[in-house]
Amino acid sequence: MRDLKKSLLRGALGATLLSAAGAYAFSFDFGDDDYYPGWGAPMYGPPGGGYYLPPRLSSYDRHSLKMNRQDMMSDHQDALNELSAMLYGGKGFDRSEAVQLARMIQSGSGIKLSRNFHPGAVVTSGSRAMPSVWQNQDAFKGYADNLSVAAGELAKALVIQPKPENAIMLPKRDAAFSCKKGDEACTKVAVDPSVWEKFNNLSATCEGCHVGFRGFGWW
Ligand code: HEC
Repeated sequence: MRDLKKSLLRGALGATLLSAAGAYAFSFDFGDDDYYPGWGAPMYGPPGGGYYLPPRLSSYDRHSLKMNRQDMMSDHQDALNELSAMLYGGKGFDRSEAVQLARMIQSGSGIKLSRNFHPGAVVTSGSRAMPSVWQNQDAFKGYADNLSVAAGELAKALVIQPKPENAIMLPKRDAAFSCKKGDEACTKVAVDPSVWEKFNNLSATCEGCHVGFRGFGWW
């Protein structure tokens, strides 16, 4: 009799857990994440009360734009780190690579950058873009355009091949392979002194935009 009771109790417990789990599993809504207050990006709201008024893109589109801009940003970060390693002694200098990196940053600026910040995709889960992007679109686009100018000027300064007496000499990337033994001149590259100022301008443009437009995330 006791065994029977035990098995009945176990059965009842099992059935309860199974049905709870089943109900939970099928309760997920993959459509949109707008309906969970307190989690993720804020919902639509009445003027003044809510953060965000329509039109808002669908969850899928917001996510794609967010991924695009975050991918682009981390490419920018990689390029900037590489440039700073070359200019501040982390690794040897390679002129053509340095120019390419600056041009790569330039190619992800201006409209190429701001198009990933569609007003309906700014406030999104997992994104650190602040609503201020949308509220100050002109300033935001200004930064995106300045990024193009700053990266272009850096590329132009990197191309200059000054005379050694007017240059800062940096160690050459492949000197060990491409230079003859004892050929001192070959192991150095002449870089125009204005390059550092241009690099700092570029880096300050990134940071300037982040200070105003990148905040905490909606997780
Ligand atoms: C016009 C404004 C603007 C400029 C210019 C800008 N950023 Fe950003 N950046 C942002 C915003 C906004 C975010 C947050 C994006 C998000 O999470 O949706 C961001 C995010 C990032 C991230 C985090 C990406 C991730 O995976 O979450 C990195 C890294 C970054 N930026 C690097 C840079 C670098 C390096 C530069 C300069 C070469 C730069 N940014 C220029 C606005 C800008």
